[in-house]
Amino acid sequence: MAKEVLDYFQLKEKEIYVDCTLGSGGHSQILLENCPQTKVIAFDQDPAAIFRCQQNPFFSFQTITFINDNFLNFSQHLTALNIFQVDGFLFDLGVSSEQLADSKRGFSYRLDAPLDMRMDTRSQLTAYEVINTYQQKELADIFWDYGEERKARKIARKICQARQKEKIATTQQLVRIVAGCQEKKTSKHPARRVFQALRIAVNQELNVLTQTLEKTFQFLKEGGKIIVISYHSLEDRIVKQMFRKHSKLGWQILTKKPLMASPKEVTENRRARKTDGIKYFRPEVFRQLEKIELSDVEKQAEELIGEEIAVIRGRTPQEIKKGVIEYIDRILAETYV
Ligand SMILES: C[S@@+](CC[C@H](N)C(=O)[O-])C[C@H]1O[C@@H](n2cnc3c(N)ncnc32)[C@H](O)[C@@H]1O
Repeated sequence: MAKEVLDYFQLKEKEIYVDCTLGSGGHSQILLENCPQTKVIAFDQDPAAIFRCQQNPFFSFQTITFINDNFLNFSQHLTALNIFQVDGFLFDLGVSSEQLADSKRGFSYRLDAPLDMRMDTRSQLTAYEVINTYQQKELADIFWDYGEERKARKIARKICQARQKEKIATTQQLVRIVAGCQEKKTSKHPARRVFQALRIAVNQELNVLTQTLEKTFQFLKEGGKIIVISYHSLEDRIVKQMFRKHSKLGWQILTKKPLMASPKEVTENRRARKTDGIKYFRPEVFRQLEKIELSDVEKQAEELIGEEIAVIRGRTPQEIKKGVIEYIDRILAETYV
């Protein structure tokens, strides 16, 4: 969606943009490459994301200010920087590929990891805390409200039974409990809704988004724009409601329907991320996959997809490479649903 972001922002020199979700810096980089004189204020609550971008040589000589905080607090930071009006806010919601792939963070139901799921590793509440201390009803509500999980009550009950015997400390302990509650087998991972719900609860994603969006309008110049890339219907609903409300106060909604990445972009870029309405390419994952060398493909495949290597054993190197790319593509697409 980089092209769409650029088209809508129509960058001009000396303007100020706020990248609320820096991640690995892809969007900030695109803004600065296309308009080097523009000023970018970039937020991420994950210290690791900020650190990574600070180490990125591209940003060394750019007019970018990194802020390691929740975007909820953007107004205090902008005020401290003497900025009271900006030309654009960009939100690319959810977790980054790096966070998902980090086996210590506990975001992915595919990797065994401690139940953590904090985007801001300095904050107190972890998924472990939620799973092991929240009451059964609270858990059921989280799974239902934030994951639209049909088996929410049953899963909450089983979690409470299991934790009486031993603490539920890892992602795979949780996956086993959730999978045991699902009667129908589908192509989607049985724990994906519960993981989404837990992550939203741990990071209070929906409250934060609602409160932040409300404030952005006060900081927007006349003609300024807010772009939100959302990944599930709960986020999408908040964005639509907020934009509708402000359209009655004189702001204009630029896209009646969510935008999709162009078919060309999706075909060219193997790493297309499925969302409700938006497909999004993650260049860093694609680059990693592109690097797979045919001469050494089995070993690299094993490193990338571990035990699942059995699925593609005994094939030609070309088939293995194709299989790995498709496999990772599927995992990421499922994870983001
Ligand atoms: C999908 S990634 C963004 C990817 C980025 N646009 C890029 O091009 O690399 C989302 C990032 O936003 C951060 N994030 C999510 N919610 C946040 C919040 N409330 N405040 C600050 N950062 C947040 C996450 O830590 C993650 O690094």
